Amino acid sequence: MRVVDVIHKKRDGGELTAEEIGVLVTGYSRGDIPDYQMSAWAMAVLFRGMTSAETAALTLAMAGSGDQVDLSPIHGIKVDKHSTGGVGDKTTLIIGPLVASAGVPVAKMSGRGLGHTGGTIDKLESIEGFHTELSRDDFIKQVNDIGLSVIGQSGNLAPADKKLYALRDVTGTVESIPLIASSVMSKKIAAGADAIVLDVKTGSGAFMKTVQDAEELANAMVAIGSEVGRQTAAVISDMDQPLGFAIGNALEVEEALATLKGNGPEDLTELCLALGAHMVVLGGNAATFDEAKELLRGKLASGEALDKFRLFIEAQGGDGRIADQPELLPKAPFTIEVQSNQSGYVNAIEAEQLGLAAMMLGAGRETKDSVIDYAVGVTLRKKVGDEVKQGDTLALLHVREQNESAAKVGERVLEAYTIENAKPATRPLLLSVVTA
Ligand code: URA
Repeated sequence: MRVVDVIHKKRDGGELTAEEIGVLVTGYSRGDIPDYQMSAWAMAVLFRGMTSAETAALTLAMAGSGDQVDLSPIHGIKVDKHSTGGVGDKTTLIIGPLVASAGVPVAKMSGRGLGHTGGTIDKLESIEGFHTELSRDDFIKQVNDIGLSVIGQSGNLAPADKKLYALRDVTGTVESIPLIASSVMSKKIAAGADAIVLDVKTGSGAFMKTVQDAEELANAMVAIGSEVGRQTAAVISDMDQPLGFAIGNALEVEEALATLKGNGPEDLTELCLALGAHMVVLGGNAATFDEAKELLRGKLASGEALDKFRLFIEAQGGDGRIADQPELLPKAPFTIEVQSNQSGYVNAIEAEQLGLAAMMLGAGRETKDSVIDYAVGVTLRKKVGDEVKQGDTLALLHVREQNESAAKVGERVLEAYTIENAKPATRPLLLSVVTA
């Protein structure tokens, strides 16, 4: 089989066989197929699309290109959760203990933050002593013992996707729904879960700018799940502004703790309950979504979800006292108020700009090797729909130093807010759900 013939076939709108896709993925992964041929193929896919059988074949080929985690020694149905990326997204910190407290095992691999989005592993490492590198046996033992473990992602999970994603990034081929769907699902499948709940974001702070595109992506991922025998559900949620109020590692842990105590922001709590309820249904511990949601509300109210969080932190070497004393978390020495220069209503907040602002303060990485400061970040005082008067505080910067660069970040935060005379129409956080 000649690679150029496969490229021709896709370019002319043909359907590739699983074998042809397998040869492409393995050949590219090994370095036998050059970047120029793979990028020509990716561009053909961008214009011609892929059938669900082709998308499933691509997903399985990429999932099989590296380590495949075997979670079968863990009792019960293992349900994983994945978010397509957001600013202030601390849902894993809440959903992990919440779902585990409802009896569904959570064996999760998470990533670090890069650019304007934060990563769960960095947030957890802001807790003194917490470690995210466990041996496979310790990981499995911990999930069997307490129902929850979160570790850093293996470097060799779906390496073909890693290589193809880097190529797509520089060849204008990221925005293909089958390529995004197979990229996300290949990593989830290699990570070993039996069922998957996806949080697909839409809006200014997300990859998918419209609800229609987000639904198309969700449908593609749920279809892959069905094709490869992993039950999958997708919740489409709004990312037109950051989730909750806190952006920055320790600040987000603090907000996650408040949520586990039932005092969290409404949007964050609602999203966690919705995603968690789908996980509990797929995990077989409730018959319906409503029943699962009630079960989870009970776990928040009884303190069991918070107890699970404490156990989890201690099991991975962290200081469990933070569950009751969040003031023990790293704290920035100074705060700077960002004040509104006009009166009106907040109509929009550019999430990506706030993510970048937090990164500039030191909460995120500009490059893979940047060292992050767990204490710094931004907390919002006003969100979309809130009335503001000139001089009101829109947000607080938590900074290491009160210097000129902190002042520049303040200007960026101010610019991220759009304030107009009219109150904006309310837009729901949860937009739709796609199930198989
Ligand atoms: N995230 C991924 O993991 N892959 C993509 O292709 C896009 C976003």
